[in-house]
Amino acid sequence: MSRKRVVVLGGGAAARMVGGMLKADASVDLVGFTDANPARHGQTLCELPILGSDDMLPELRRRGISHAVIAAGEPRLRKRLAAFLREHDFELANVIHPHAFLAPEVQLGSGIIVLPGAVLMDNPLIGDNVFIGQAVSIGHDVVIGRDCLVGGRSAIGADVFVGEAALIGWASIVGPRHRVGTGAVIASGANVMSDVPENAVAAGNPARVVRMREAT
Ligand SMILES: CC(C)(COP(=O)(O)OP(=O)(O)OC[C@H]1O[C@@H](n2cnc3c(N)ncnc32)[C@H](O)[C@@H]1OP(=O)(O)O)[C@@H](O)C(=O)NCCC(=O)NCCS
Repeated sequence: MSRKRVVVLGGGAAARMVGGMLKADASVDLVGFTDANPARHGQTLCELPILGSDDMLPELRRRGISHAVIAAGEPRLRKRLAAFLREHDFELANVIHPHAFLAPEVQLGSGIIVLPGAVLMDNPLIGDNVFIGQAVSIGHDVVIGRDCLVGGRSAIGADVFVGEAALIGWASIVGPRHRVGTGAVIASGANVMSDVPENAVAAGNPARVVRMREAT
């Protein structure tokens, strides 16, 4: 069986976690990392090189590296990088930690990262390019739109709809049957007890909108 040749975008802690998961996968040949920060170029991560900036991705694709994984967290950056990768004919690989639980009927897009301890219960639908952090809990019938970051230890109740490119902060709660709009940010530790509009930043318990972000 030929192994998928994969590059990871990012050279920080998230990339290190993702790199470790990919190295443990016998079906993957991880070739290295790209990172926007020139100070990291030439360094190693997971004993593999940080090859250069994202500008070199088209060249890597020409050299036969067919798959990529985005290890950046910020959803709008994830969205931009995914568009760039698709434009250059990369496939986005899924990286699911063996100690995550995904309900058997889960519908997963591509480019999804799931860290250890995450639990995705009945009937979840996870769009492309979503990053799900450690020990996240997702109740039944939850939809997470593409390009989202679901921060570690957050809990998303049943029947929740999260729009595209939203950021669900670390250890936050989104109560059952609520909607989080596209581009919204839920602050770390927030307790969402009502719908959050598109591009709103909501914080506190109960969560209130503290400001609005520019729409993209
Ligand atoms: C919500 C957040 C985006 C705000 O960042 P910011 O735009 O730089 O805003 P500020 O720090 O200027 O805060 C704006 C207001 O919200 C409040 N606020 C910010 N974060 C808060 C939080 N987690 N809980 C409660 N209130 C918070 C601030 O006190 C401030 O209130 P004020 O206007 O009365 O002074 C940021 O604090 C946050 O929680 N990001 C999530 C990070 C995360 O969990 N990432 C995932 C990692 S896995």
